[in-house]
Formats: sequence, structure tokens, C-alpha cells
Amino acid sequence: MSSSEVKTGRVQKSSAQRHLNAGIFVGVVLVFLTYLLMSQQFAFGAPYENGTVVCSWEGRLSESCEISGDIRVNGTSRSAFLVPTSQSEHREWQIRPYSRKNVDAIKKVTITQLPDDRSAAPACTTATYAVPAVLFALGGLTGNIFHDYADVLVPLFVASRRYAGEVQFLVANLGDRPAWPGKYITLLRVLSKYDVVDLDAADAHVMRCFRRLTVGLHIHKEFTVVPEMAAADEGRRRRRLAMADFTRFQREAYGLPRVDVAPREPGKRQPRLMLLRRSHYRRFVNEEEIVRAAAAAAGFEAEAVELNGDEMPVAEQARRVNSFDVLVAVHGAGLTTEVFLPPGGVVIQVVPFGKTEFIARVEYGEPAVDMGLKYIYYNIGLEESTLLEMFGPDHPAIRDPDSIHRKGWLTVYEYYLRKQDIRINITRFAPALAQAMDHLRRQH
Ligand SMILES: *[C@@H]1O[C@H](CO)[C@@H](O)[C@H](O)[C@H]1NC(C)=O
Ligand SMILES: *[C@@H]1O[C@H](CO)[C@@H](O)[C@H](O)[C@H]1NC(C)=O
Ligand SMILES: *[C@@H]1O[C@H](CO)[C@@H](O)[C@H](O)[C@H]1NC(C)=O
Repeated sequence: MSSSEVKTGRVQKSSAQRHLNAGIFVGVVLVFLTYLLMSQQFAFGAPYENGTVVCSWEGRLSESCEISGDIRVNGTSRSAFLVPTSQSEHREWQIRPYSRKNVDAIKKVTITQLPDDRSAAPACTTATYAVPAVLFALGGLTGNIFHDYADVLVPLFVASRRYAGEVQFLVANLGDRPAWPGKYITLLRVLSKYDVVDLDAADAHVMRCFRRLTVGLHIHKEFTVVPEMAAADEGRRRRRLAMADFTRFQREAYGLPRVDVAPREPGKRQPRLMLLRRSHYRRFVNEEEIVRAAAAAAGFEAEAVELNGDEMPVAEQARRVNSFDVLVAVHGAGLTTEVFLPPGGVVIQVVPFGKTEFIARVEYGEPAVDMGLKYIYYNIGLEESTLLEMFGPDHPAIRDPDSIHRKGWLTVYEYYLRKQDIRINITRFAPALAQAMDHLRRQH
């Protein structure tokens, strides 16, 4: 009996051992497969052979291609040729270099993989660049700070951070936004040590040659970085990028002093709240009352601030916002400046009447969380909207917001984003302020 027991024990043990071995084997194979996948996806340093074109439509908003090999770019005709080292398949891709591929005012770039090295590949007229290039378009929806960040700066960061400044930007549709590179020069200088090449102004006789080229920028999710889809940051031990890396990049580029919500001066413990003032529509009608409530009832050092995006340099906006702990703003592009708040800070988004909470959450709420901020939303009640007095209770915009949504985005925009101002009910708003204060207190 004892021997059979021993035997059973041994059998069980070796069976467990086998399972364990099998488990380790499967694990090793999985790791190896993952490694293969990754190393192919990012195998830029590998021998070029015929060269490769890898295109992606991930996330559905954008399209982009990564090309490596003998690449020749004609800026005037918006075309890139891959010249293979031997017989190859003739292939062609059309890529919109703006991160929202439905913005059809932006001309597509044609990428052609030539069949062989002898076919009419136009000769290089420059020495082959020693650094990779990223080709992207301005124009489109840029010019609005949200789209400047969501459509260009965040995706460009994801596309180019891995090169630690050693990258050439090729810019299409710069003629539509001639002041743009100057406005964001502080950020562009960190991402690329070289002046941008304006493809609109490119000489038709110039054929630039590269070994690596990214065509198009990719939005995986609005105004944020999805680490699983972002390339590794080679400067930082090949870690996948996250939105926190982007906000750190903002603080470093603009020299923002506050990297957390600790008080700036010892002993000065009163958290600071900024009420963002809008000058046109979606204004706070009772701004002073809100500031008083934030100060008297909730205990903030509170201030209404206007960031005039057209006149105030971004660096100045960044410094202003970074000096606060809480940003209170009605849904709108001004909330993009949440990117300058110190991590641990709070964003209170005031959501206008008219079923706009989805877009509010996607554009600023989820990004705020990725930035390491506490996100609080305040859906206003109908009696806090000036639309009620403007249209009366029987108007479809008041009675039936769904009917407005059925008419399409422009109608939604017209009614709920353009015509509406907001009179915050201080009693109803008080818990949001208290929650913000509570969050900050808990960090000290
Ligand atoms: C790459 O070159 C080899 C010859 O070196 C050729 O046999 C092969 O078909 C080429 N591959 C592609 C994808 O064109
Ligand atoms: C670039 O494309 C333009 C327009 O198609 C053409 O006129 C020009 O000759 C091309 N440049 C070179 C260097 O091939
Ligand atoms: C403000 O909100 C409080 C609490 O929800 C409510 O009791 C009060 O009637 C509201 N005041 C106005 C003017 O709507």
C-alpha cells in the first residue's frame, strides 16, 4: 500500500512536472512569437533587402505607412518611390497624410513600390538624408487648439519621439497654415533638430532621398496616446509611450515648474482654481458668482482667466494653466490646455445642455484621466442653460434634443454649442467643487 502510495505520488508529481514543462514551453513559444511580431513591426534597423512598406489603418480614423529602403520623395507631386534591390512586385498605396482621413481637402500621397531598380526611378538630387523623415499635413482642422493637439502634436509625438530629435519633418499644406510651425516652434524643436521642409514650396526638380519614411500621422484615440499602439521611446529604455510622456514633454519643452500639485511656496496650502473664460459663446453668465463660491464655500484661491488663443503665445497659456490645480471650463477647445495642469490636478468639465456628454467625455474626459488628472463632469440642468429663455420650453431643441441630433452634427453645433450660455446653479455645483478640493487634500 505504501509503495503504491509512493508510486501514485511519483506519478502525480511527474504529471505535474509535465504540465509545468508544457506550460513553460508554451510560454517561451508565445514570448518568441510576440518578439518576432514586434521585431518585424519595428525592424527599422534590419538590412533593407528590397525595402518594405508597412501600412496601418488601426483605429479607423487614420491611415499611415512606414517605409524603409531606398526611398525617393517628390514633394511637388506628393509621391514617394521605393526602389527595390532586385525584382519586386509593383504596388501602390494612396495615403492621406492628415490624421483624419476623411478630411478630403488634403491631397493624398502616392507611395509606389517599383518593380525593379532599373525602372524609371527618378534620381536623387540630394544626398540621402542620414535621418528618417516623417511626412504629414497641416491645413485640415488645425488652427483650433484642440485639433492642433489631437490631430497633429500628439500623433507627431508618437511618430517621432523614438528618434530623439534626429528626424526630418516634411510638411504638406503648410501654405494653409503658414504661422503654425512658428506657433509651436518650441515643441517642434524638441521633436526635430531640423527646420521643417515645406512641400508646398518644394522645387519640382528636387528629389529627396531617405532610408526611412513615415507617411501620415495616426490617431488611435482622440487627444491621447494608446501605449499598445505607440512605438517604443528609444531614449527611455524602449518603453512604450503613454499620454503621461506627452504631458512631460509639454512641461519640459515649456519649462513648466509644477510637476505635481504640491504647493508652490511652503506654507501656502490653498489650492488654486482657474475658471476658464470664453469670450464668444458657451460663456459663464454668472462668472463672478462661481468664482466667489469656489473661494468662499470650497476654499480655493479662485480666478477667472481668459486665454486668448490667437494672441497669447502657447508658452504663456502653458505657464498660466500650470500655476493652477483645478481647471473649470465649459466643453470647448480651451479645455485642451488641461495638458499643462500639473499631474494630480483636477479638470471639471461643464457639459452644456443637449446630450453633449459623449463628445465631452471622449475629447477631454478620457484624455484627462490618461494625463494623470482627476476628471469631474458637471452636466448642467435645463434651467442653467440660456437656451430655455431663448426658445421657451416647447421648442424641439429644449423638448427633444434627440430630434436635433438626428439632423446631424452641424445642427447640434448650432443649437447646443453656438447659441448656448450657462448660468451655473451654485447650490447644484457645490458638490463638484467639494470633490475637487477633497481630491487635492488627499494628496498632501
Ligand atoms: C526581394 O528580392 C528577392 C531577390 O533578392 C526576390 O526573389 C523577391 O521576390 C523580392 N521580394 C519582394 C517582396 O519583392
Ligand atoms: C516631381 O513631380 C512633378 C509633378 O509631377 C514633375 O513635374 C517633376 O519633374 C518631378 N520631379 C522630379 C525630380 O522628378
Ligand atoms: C439650484 O439647485 C438646487 C439643488 O439642486 C435646487 O434646489 C434649486 O431649486 C436650484 N435653483 C434654481 C434657481 O434652479
